[in-house]
Amino acid sequence: MEDRQKRMPLFEAIIEYNEKKPAFFRVPGHRYERGINPAWREKVGDEIFKFDLTETPITDDLHHASGAIKEAEDLAAELWGADYSHFLVNGSTCGNQVMVVTTVNGGDKIAIPRNSHKSVLMGLIIGGGVPVYMMPEIEEEWGLHGGITPRQVEEMFEMNPDCKGVLIVSPTYYGITSDIAGIAKVCHAHDAVLMVDEAHGAHCYFSDHLPKGAIEQGADICVQSIHKVTGSLTQSSMLHIKSDRISKSRLEQNLTLVQSTSPSYILMTSLDCARQQMALHGDEMVEAAVELSQTARDRLNTIPGIRCAGKELIGRAGIHDLDATRLTISAADIGITGFDLKKMLFDEYDVDVELADYRNVLAIVTYANEKEDLDMLCDAMQDISDRFAEEGQPLPPGEHLPAQPDYVLSPRAAYFNERERVPWFETRGRIVAEMIAPYPPEIPVIYQGERMSQEVWEYVEAFRQRNGHIHGPSDMTLSTLLVIRE
Ligand SMILES: Cc1ncc(COP(=O)(O)O)c(C=O)c1O
Repeated sequence: MEDRQKRMPLFEAIIEYNEKKPAFFRVPGHRYERGINPAWREKVGDEIFKFDLTETPITDDLHHASGAIKEAEDLAAELWGADYSHFLVNGSTCGNQVMVVTTVNGGDKIAIPRNSHKSVLMGLIIGGGVPVYMMPEIEEEWGLHGGITPRQVEEMFEMNPDCKGVLIVSPTYYGITSDIAGIAKVCHAHDAVLMVDEAHGAHCYFSDHLPKGAIEQGADICVQSIHKVTGSLTQSSMLHIKSDRISKSRLEQNLTLVQSTSPSYILMTSLDCARQQMALHGDEMVEAAVELSQTARDRLNTIPGIRCAGKELIGRAGIHDLDATRLTISAADIGITGFDLKKMLFDEYDVDVELADYRNVLAIVTYANEKEDLDMLCDAMQDISDRFAEEGQPLPPGEHLPAQPDYVLSPRAAYFNERERVPWFETRGRIVAEMIAPYPPEIPVIYQGERMSQEVWEYVEAFRQRNGHIHGPSDMTLSTLLVIRE
């Protein structure tokens, strides 16, 4: 395996093409680096533009891969333990869409967590399908979504024996994993496909100190944002399949539905090169990230009023395991919300973390972080503690979510039905055409196609009154909402 994995078939093919450097009468129009705006070239250099090519006899074709791209995809499949893999140039967004569209359409049922990424819903809009929502438990101390348990999935099948597939997000943004092996057993006993949105988990396959990967645990198919955790470029992802429950030809057809007919060779080459780097050095690279994170976590947990989540979460709220390279940091004990903390870290300490929720901020640590980065983060948290710990009072707990409202229309029907915009105060009893996800915990309290209940309305109204963060509606002020015309 080692020697094969040293190769970078697409990278090598592009070098070969550039050595030949034929007179170029095709797309893209810039002809190697020549046509690029000089101001950009001056900053970036010339070489990268030579990789921006197209389908040629040397460089293969993503949509009918049989040469360099196919070889590169096969090496990726070997590394991540799949039967076969596909490069994606539209992120895990299009990977989720393809997994959904390939598994269900029309009136087929698919079980998805209530906190799925919006691309899962987009898949249901593109192809149809009826979502059966599973609610992850909330871990109250940190206010985080926990995992989905095999028992929950079993109960879902008892109510919906005709459900064709289950899609689980694992790890979540915060590094929380579900018991994928247990869920795989349940799904396969019901002859259903297990899809895993592993956008945040491609590195897990390279360390015994991290949760096991989805494919290693029996998932049929998973999507990974290689760009989020390894060295490929933004928007480049992979789909891995290890199953005979998925139609290969259908999947390949569906990939053409959601990806450009002009896929970027820069993105695809970045996948090829990132795969080679992980194959040769992934173990040490990921181990270094784990060590850096653990050292930072230990230090953060000694700072008065500051906490960083760790393995103690395992076993609570369906949490099966935790990715140690995700640092969920809270100053809630001294009255600082995650939103304020994120802003403070950026404005005052030059530390930029990935996201914030009501109680926490999330720092993603990868192999490319250096000790100095972690020192800056920890020093900043120490200073914030010095400034605020004595006076600060704990934040009040978040509120409990309202009951799931009635399902009326599928996401696809809700998307394509005639809609109208009505004042927010007139939305009770209406079928909504936009989902609403108050933040935290950013679980949608209502999805498009569900009927607005009094309870959901009051919950959202309370958020609106205090100018809380609300995701989903096109009118961000929520003075109005799109509903289905009835
Ligand atoms: C859980 C999850 N799934 C899917 C995606 C989409 O991934 P991409 O940005 O690669 O399209 C994201 C993006 O943040 C995500 O967090």
